[in-house]
Formats: sequence, structure tokens, C-alpha cells
Amino acid sequence: MDRTFVMVKPDGVQRGLIGEIVSRFEAKGLKLAAAKLESLPEERVVEQYREHLEKPFFPGLKAYIMSGPCFLMVWEGKGAAAVVRTMIGATNPAEAAPGSIRGDFGLDIGRNVIHASDSPASAVREIGIHFAPAELIEYSKVD
Ligand code: CMP
Repeated sequence: MDRTFVMVKPDGVQRGLIGEIVSRFEAKGLKLAAAKLESLPEERVVEQYREHLEKPFFPGLKAYIMSGPCFLMVWEGKGAAAVVRTMIGATNPAEAAPGSIRGDFGLDIGRNVIHASDSPASAVREIGIHFAPAELIEYSKVD
């Protein structure tokens, strides 16, 4: 089953957007395989965003992600990574389409509400950073 990693960032948690965001993915037909509210340690933020380590915005990105708890999720369903990326919209909320999560709830690229894996390979990597295998529900075993 295709899975993807999704994270409501501290601005989204503080603004009370977890329920709205979870509702959208549930309504789409995706299944929640894992979820937890967590303040991320620096090592996992660095690992999560390792491709951006040398970017000028990285120190601000790290401080933002560590500014409060994040809501971490794993969603599953056919083509989950691509479906979720379409639903969250462009990285810059100012350019994200209305109807997408960032398009409806964001304005600033530095406070863009939500992160989701950009490919199935990234999803495997990012799920492995944040979740132990035992934390993931195997619906085929409980249905
Ligand atoms: P995300 O989808 O989590 O992946 C990388 C993150 O880096 C992105 O969302 C933004 O939060 C952040 N980011 C990307 N570009 C910029 C930028 N130009 N300025 C500030 N933050 C950025």
C-alpha cells in the first residue's frame, strides 16, 4: 500500500488547523496509518530537511519547526504521496491554488502550515525518520 509522511507545522498546530487538515485527507479517502503530536529534536529536523542544510533560509526553517509541537502523520492510499502533494498546494502559500491547504490557510513561505513528502522514495525516508515500524497500523492485519 502506498504511504506518505505529512506534518502539520507549529503554525498550523497553534492556529487549530489539525482537525480541518485531518478531515480533508479522510474525506479524500486516505487512511490514517499513524499520528502523534511531538516537539521535534534538532537531529530529526536536520535529517528531515537535509537537502536544505546549505540554503540561506535553513536556520530560520529549523527555528520555525522547533518553535512548538508538530502533528506528524502517515497516510495511506493509492498514489498517496502525489495525491497529498496536490492537496497541500505549492510550497509558497501566496502562489498555492485556492482549495489547497496552503492556498486556503497560508500567506508566507516561511509559515506554510504543512509539509508532505515529495515522492514515494522521500515518503519511505521521512516515515523512517519519525516513526518506528511498530507505530504504523497495518490495516490488512486489523480489518
Ligand atoms: P516544506 O514543504 O516543509 O519543505 C521545505 C521547507 O523549506 C518549505 O516547506 C518551507 O517551509 C521552507 N522554505 C522553502 N523555501 C523557503 C524560502 N525561500 N524561505 C523560507 N523558507 C523556505
